[in-house]
Amino acid sequence: MFTIFPTIVEGPLRESLLGKAIEAGIIDVRVHDIRDFATDRHRQVDDEPYGGGPGMVLKPEPVFAAVESLGEGTKRVIVLSPAGRRLDQALVRDLAKEPRLVLISGRYEGVDERVVEGLPAEEVSIGDYVLSGGEIPALVVLEAVTRLIPGVVGKEESLERESFEDGHLDHPHYTRPSEFRGMAVPDVLLSGNHAEVERWRREAAEEKTRRNRPDLLER
Ligand code: ADE
Repeated sequence: MFTIFPTIVEGPLRESLLGKAIEAGIIDVRVHDIRDFATDRHRQVDDEPYGGGPGMVLKPEPVFAAVESLGEGTKRVIVLSPAGRRLDQALVRDLAKEPRLVLISGRYEGVDERVVEGLPAEEVSIGDYVLSGGEIPALVVLEAVTRLIPGVVGKEESLERESFEDGHLDHPHYTRPSEFRGMAVPDVLLSGNHAEVERWRREAAEEKTRRNRPDLLER
């Protein structure tokens, strides 16, 4: 990962799923400060946009130098940007096959377009809203991809059943107590009848998808 704010990503990389996957040596994550690749005296990484306008643009030289410092070898380079292809589980599955990913977090107005054209790099957005930097989006990509690497998520089954894997959202879940503030767990889930439980889950998933994401059913 390349960023001008390494500390934003360092905490999340120590915790929970990502922290455990790194600890176990299943993934190897290196965070580099783009500023370390600036060539001028002031370690400048951004500059004003040609053509005018507000904000600053991440300069191409430090970003090229940063990626080139990784040397030759297979790698897929991704620039996190709200102007990118929108991330979905299909893209996550595709990225999970790569032996090596390079995630570049932009800040300011964006990254000089020659980074995309010349490295070359793919632009990926995590959704149709604008954040002030690509660090959290890079963590989103990394976590989504890491979950699909064998050995990271405990029971393989829990991956197959979750949202998006079959074009539906996941079904609702319940745990003890069987009644809480007047709300009861559906009887069928307490029945021990596996076939009936399966059927209820399929229907409940369909219903939730219709309510929250009708666009998924139209596809
Ligand atoms: N940087 C700022 N907003 C972003 C988004 N929605 N996706 C990816 N990178 C971003």
